[in-house]
Amino acid sequence: MIALPDFPWDRLLPYQDLARAHSDGIVDLSVGTPVDPVPPVVRTALAEAADSPGYPLTYGTPRLREAAAGWLRRRHGVTVDPADILPIIGSKELVAWLPTLLGVGPGERVVLPELAYPTYDVGARIAGAEPYAADGLLALGPERVPLVWVNSPSNPTGKVLPAEHLRKVVAWARERGAVVASDECYIELGWEEQPISILHPDVCGGSQEGLLAVHSLSKRSNLAGYRAGFVAGDSSLVKRLLEVRKHAGMIMPAPVQAAMAVALDDDRHAQEQRERYAWRRAVLRPALERAGWRIEHSTAGLYLWATNGTNCWDQVRALAEKGILVAPGDFYGDAGRSHIRVAITATDERVDAAVMRLQ
Ligand SMILES: Cc1ncc(COP(=O)(O)O)c(C=O)c1O
Repeated sequence: MIALPDFPWDRLLPYQDLARAHSDGIVDLSVGTPVDPVPPVVRTALAEAADSPGYPLTYGTPRLREAAAGWLRRRHGVTVDPADILPIIGSKELVAWLPTLLGVGPGERVVLPELAYPTYDVGARIAGAEPYAADGLLALGPERVPLVWVNSPSNPTGKVLPAEHLRKVVAWARERGAVVASDECYIELGWEEQPISILHPDVCGGSQEGLLAVHSLSKRSNLAGYRAGFVAGDSSLVKRLLEVRKHAGMIMPAPVQAAMAVALDDDRHAQEQRERYAWRRAVLRPALERAGWRIEHSTAGLYLWATNGTNCWDQVRALAEKGILVAPGDFYGDAGRSHIRVAITATDERVDAAVMRLQ
């Protein structure tokens, strides 16, 4: 049996009940799940591809891979051959399985951020490897590691890793033959800072050797329910992933492939979604500050990383008493024990309600 951590969200249930008891209902800012509509162009593409009786390609249609390469070029200044792109069934799936797919195993350490999305740790465990949470790679000394995760903008902190930092990670990993996997699922949500991809020439020096960028349509296009993402980068790594995924049946459904291609080609809906999040963030942030919270990092992404100096669970309770549910920082690592993570993913009406309650 693999030793997996307890599913942390179960610990939040009593506070969910408390928040639900509020006379005007709960404002749920705990899970970062999209609440706005799936863009009509994407729904139409899904419906038009509904008659898909045959097996889809694990590799994805050429149309889908070209759309992903086009989006990377247009929006992020990254040039990737469409041959080096592979659809994934949402990015969580790849995060959980990448160590296994790369053949990482017992006796090896997978490096992940100190404050992190919990699935990097889980993915290392599924492979039988050891998760190792460290922001600085110097702590590893001369040890060789097979895989290093970075996540910018970060969940939970909203911190952006500058190009210079990413360049150092890439150089360190290349010296030791480690793969760098960069989870870029919030890359379109830069506010005070603009995130940069690991595959940008200013970071990787024009070579994608040893690098994988992981992208998701969940937040950009409200497609969390479709399970739509892709991985791009080092040709030989992508081929290896494709080979295993073909054998394992890790195939994105054909209608989702069609819908995702249309979503990647269309920037207008993504801009509209950005504007919704920008407004919610602009009102929630000062409301939390006026109520005694300090916001740290949070210059990009979908979360406000906040603290009032007390234990995170006391903060969760204080807000739940006002009918507002947030996530305790210790879900993301011990270093988060005095913070809360506030997602900006509620409707405008619910965000307004939260702002009133914080007054
Ligand atoms: C850092 C990070 N990576 C990956 C995911 C998974 O996203 P999805 O599987 O919807 O693409 C999330 C979801 O919130 C996340 O925060």
